[in-house]
Amino acid sequence: MFRLKIHLLGAEEVTKAISMKEAIEAVKEAFILVSQKKVVVPERTHLDLASHQGTSLIMPAYYPEKEKIGLKIINLYEKNPLFGLPHSYALMLIFDARNGAPLALLEAAHLTALRTGAACGLATDLLARKEAKIAAIFGAGFQARYQLEAIRAVRSLTKVYLYDPDYAKSQTFAEEISGKFGIEVEVASSPEEACQRAEIISTATTSSTPVFPDSAIKPGVHINAIGSYKPQVREVPSATVARAKIFVDQKEAALEEAGDLIIPLKEGMITEKAIVAEIGEVASGQKPGRTSAEEITFFKTVGLAAQDIALACRILETAERLNLGSKFEL
Ligand SMILES: NC(=O)c1ccc[n+]([C@@H]2O[C@H](COP(=O)([O-])OP(=O)(O)OC[C@H]3O[C@@H](n4cnc5c(N)ncnc54)[C@H](O)[C@@H]3O)[C@@H](O)[C@H]2O)c1
Repeated sequence: MFRLKIHLLGAEEVTKAISMKEAIEAVKEAFILVSQKKVVVPERTHLDLASHQGTSLIMPAYYPEKEKIGLKIINLYEKNPLFGLPHSYALMLIFDARNGAPLALLEAAHLTALRTGAACGLATDLLARKEAKIAAIFGAGFQARYQLEAIRAVRSLTKVYLYDPDYAKSQTFAEEISGKFGIEVEVASSPEEACQRAEIISTATTSSTPVFPDSAIKPGVHINAIGSYKPQVREVPSATVARAKIFVDQKEAALEEAGDLIIPLKEGMITEKAIVAEIGEVASGQKPGRTSAEEITFFKTVGLAAQDIALACRILETAERLNLGSKFEL
């Protein structure tokens, strides 16, 4: 009989082990490898738990760069927030790819929020105008906090507009951010007001329909959309998508899952050619990003297992070095 030694890392250790800037570096590496087909990321499995209004996503990856295998399971439950529970719970297992040995178990809801924020931080850095200083965040939930932290890591924000139909939640979020980051935060009374001066917009909502009208979007804006991961669900109107330069995390995944693109494709508002690049192709310099101050850039991410494993590997290295977490024998 042999025993396994597993490194256990909870939310506190996961977030302590990596800064947002390091997370952005990690996802940059992951996206470049994805675009070069140097990470194995099979299509993820969606388990539909319709009777509970939930979805379980099962996300494997092999990251040859670090010789690790990762498996994340994230369970997303639309009604959880009504009962004071988080929208998502997630765990991630890491194995040594050289011999299959299990190495670690990580709390992965925070890891997911970090890597999703980091993806948009990278996209904002590559695509938003350099002088952009005003952001609008749609949604005042868990992901939204990481969106803001990531945008702040790459642009010197002076003002943030926040819109969420749940006014009390927006107020709490606004107080939290202005205290934490010292940025002026305004809770907008309408989506239009949130967009009016915004140069960077992130949508991190559970909405299944567009969260702002196309008329609210000015030339030169950069938009990140993370909320939708199902073909029938979207946050951005077709008309905005149709006049934007579109970038994605991975083309295959976007065409399989991203309602923000699948709906305008079905409507004939865009063709697949409208997707100008994967973000990894822009990050490696293989394809250009923004080419004029007036164009609208749109980054759609459904989230890839490659991002999770890239972050998990760095977190694990730091945790070993700093002796974070605990070791469990079984
Ligand atoms: N793309 C990715 O990689 C990725 C990763 C993780 C989560 N997600 C998705 O991000 C979304 C948000 O997750 P969360 O954990 O922050 O959920 P959450 O429940 O904590 O927050 C969602 C917020 O969206 C708000 N909202 C709903 N409709 C809105 C609208 N029309 N305008 C503005 N705000 C609105 C809700 O009031 C709520 O405050 C979920 O759909 C989740 O599946 C995507």
